Amino acid sequence: MEHGNALSRRKWEQWRLVMTVLAIGLSSLQAVDAGLGQWRLVTQNAGISAMHAAVAPVSGVVVLLHHTNSGPSNITFPDGRCRNTTYDRLLKKDCFAHSVILDPWTGVVRPVMVMTDTQCSSGQFLGDGTLSQTGGDAEGTKRTRKLSPKCYTTVAQKRYCDWVEGGNGTVLLSQRWYSTNTLLPDARQIIVGGRNTFTLEYFPRYSPPSPKAGLIYLQFLNDTADAKGPNNYYPFVHLLPTNQLYIFANRDSILYDYKQNVVLRKFDKIPGNPRNYPSGGSSVMLPLLYNDNFKKVEILVCGGAAVGSVANVKAQMNCSTSCGRLDVLRKNSTWAMETMPMPRCMGDMVLLPDLNVMIINGAKRGFQGWKCGSEPTLNPVLYEPRKIAGNRFTVLNPTQTPRVYHSTANLLTDGSIMLAGSNTNRYYAFKPKTSTVDFPTELSVETFMPPYAENQPNSGGRPVIISVNATTVRYRSTLELLFWDYPSNGASAAPSPPPSPSSSSSSPPPPPPPVSNPDRFDFTMNSSPWSTHSFSHGQRVVTLYPISLTTQPESRFENGRWVNVRTVQLRVPSYSTVLPQTYYMLWVVKNGNPSTSCVWIRVRG
Ligand SMILES: *[C@@H]1O[C@H](CO)[C@@H](O)[C@H](O)[C@H]1NC(C)=O
Ligand SMILES: *[C@@H]1O[C@H](CO)[C@@H](O)[C@H](O)[C@H]1NC(C)=O
Ligand SMILES: *[C@@H]1O[C@H](CO)[C@@H](O)[C@H](O)[C@H]1NC(C)=O
Ligand SMILES: *[C@@H]1O[C@H](CO)[C@@H](O)[C@H](O)[C@H]1NC(C)=O
Ligand SMILES: *[C@@H]1O[C@H](CO)[C@@H](O)[C@H](O)[C@H]1NC(C)=O
Ligand SMILES: *[C@@H]1O[C@H](CO)[C@@H](O)[C@H](O)[C@H]1NC(C)=O
Ligand SMILES: *[C@@H]1O[C@H](CO)[C@@H](O)[C@H](O)[C@H]1NC(C)=O
Repeated sequence: MEHGNALSRRKWEQWRLVMTVLAIGLSSLQAVDAGLGQWRLVTQNAGISAMHAAVAPVSGVVVLLHHTNSGPSNITFPDGRCRNTTYDRLLKKDCFAHSVILDPWTGVVRPVMVMTDTQCSSGQFLGDGTLSQTGGDAEGTKRTRKLSPKCYTTVAQKRYCDWVEGGNGTVLLSQRWYSTNTLLPDARQIIVGGRNTFTLEYFPRYSPPSPKAGLIYLQFLNDTADAKGPNNYYPFVHLLPTNQLYIFANRDSILYDYKQNVVLRKFDKIPGNPRNYPSGGSSVMLPLLYNDNFKKVEILVCGGAAVGSVANVKAQMNCSTSCGRLDVLRKNSTWAMETMPMPRCMGDMVLLPDLNVMIINGAKRGFQGWKCGSEPTLNPVLYEPRKIAGNRFTVLNPTQTPRVYHSTANLLTDGSIMLAGSNTNRYYAFKPKTSTVDFPTELSVETFMPPYAENQPNSGGRPVIISVNATTVRYRSTLELLFWDYPSNGASAAPSPPPSPSSSSSSPPPPPPPVSNPDRFDFTMNSSPWSTHSFSHGQRVVTLYPISLTTQPESRFENGRWVNVRTVQLRVPSYSTVLPQTYYMLWVVKNGNPSTSCVWIRVRG
């Protein structure tokens, strides 16, 4: 008995070892499962580290911005151009670029000049696609800057095409460092809060006697600043379809009527930890849907630093795993809490065209700031808001590259997410990880293609947009879109044989018979937000009402397969509060698969 037991125990140990090795093998195999998303390196060296990033309409290139007063970056201007100033703290003659235009498909960059310090500043695209940028550090705190749509190219420009500083009269009324900009229905932006700044202002500015022409004090911003924190910089601001603002700071939030300067409602404190800088939580407004006439608005707030984290940097406390979801227009609504599969500070939340949310970047311990975080969170997590609670999170394939403090995440025009930046050092520090450089300054740029439904059986592949009949539309108008999609019925989804090359005169095989149409189509418009410090300013996604959609599509042979060619007529929402005037990415989403690329649509009054 003894002997037998010992033997079987040894066998069991061996068996367990084999199983463990197998399990490790399987898990590493799983780690590259395309069903859990795919990573791609855009460039090892973008020249600068992106603190801020925005995807430019219509070319889809990305504007990256770091800041001046930071010494040498890793890219200089062509033609020996330099920025000569009396005020730069490190280089009076600065020949290094601190902003670039990046082509996310080729990795090519064009340096652009920015004259004043944009550290911890904010921005937003205006109605005509101009990128408007405000505030910053040092000489930049009251500055405004613009980048013209003409500059959204990586092709060298004879007249350079740089950031243009606002002249006299276009400086801000207050210093703005760590403020949040949000596009409003009239294509102005509201600039809320910032460091020791308990006011808001509008830009471009209203003229007197408008009460909105001056600085407007908001007690809420004062009330939410912790002495040890402050945990209310970069407030989360969302424009609601009711033309009110939802403003979240620290653990509190309000429904704010900006037109009358009245706080209409104070919401319950979110349970758990503070969420705003330097806590490093993030927030999105969940998709606005035509089905309910844009009447349901839910805010999601996730992650951030543990209570007491900021007061004790050495402790490197675990970041928060908690998310709160709030139905802001429902009476008596309060936070519904959920738990992420892993803790996250300094993460970013990206609204995807398929109406899900990607939670990406960040760290598991510490908080925002130079050398204040550790243990990068390399796995993105998908949040599917329409699934039942408890079933909404999926851990996805990890990257190799930490993106902690001062990193960015933006939806690109192919449905992937671009990740850039990460610099936890005061200046550029390229050295490998040492005791003084916890994370080297990250110059690389990657993309992550989320696992859209294309990997699920019978969903069909990603549709392809052929054309739209207008690229500028007005409210309440109709837009006609032509696209094709693969048949999604099991049998007919299998690739058809390509036409035989020997009989080029004969036509391709007959199209599959029409199938009943259980497919789900969504037509979505995503804004192009300003990504900085874990919050994407002005981010929103809206679904459009399909007035009519071809149900008996014409068959066409494309890429060796039969496809359905369809026309859809889409209703542009009636109100600029749903879609403030600017450019949007329009997607066709079939059974959760967004089109291979979007088209840019300008919405205007
Ligand atoms: C800086 O740029 C040079 C080329 O201009 C490159 O060789 C070097 O690797 C870059 N440094 C980093 C850290 O990427
Ligand atoms: C900056 O100064 C250098 C000489 O130090 C000069 O060659 C260059 O043209 C100046 N740049 C600008 C933009 O004025
Ligand atoms: C800008 O304003 C300052 C102070 O208000 C004034 O001294 C300066 O002359 C103005 N510059 C221009 C170009 O108007
Ligand atoms: C913040 O609020 C306190 C108390 O209400 C007030 O005394 C203080 O002046 C306010 N701070 C600022 C900068 O307005
Ligand atoms: C922090 O997280 C680690 C796992 O990453 C866990 O082992 C540890 O118990 C956590 N500490 C606290 C105080 O929750
Ligand atoms: C909302 O809460 C108030 C106070 O607790 C209560 O009197 C009221 O009945 C509630 N309304 C609804 C619709 O639940
Ligand atoms: C696009 O098509 C829709 C529906 O067919 C039509 O109402 C609209 O006027 C068209 N727009 C343009 C610019 O032709």
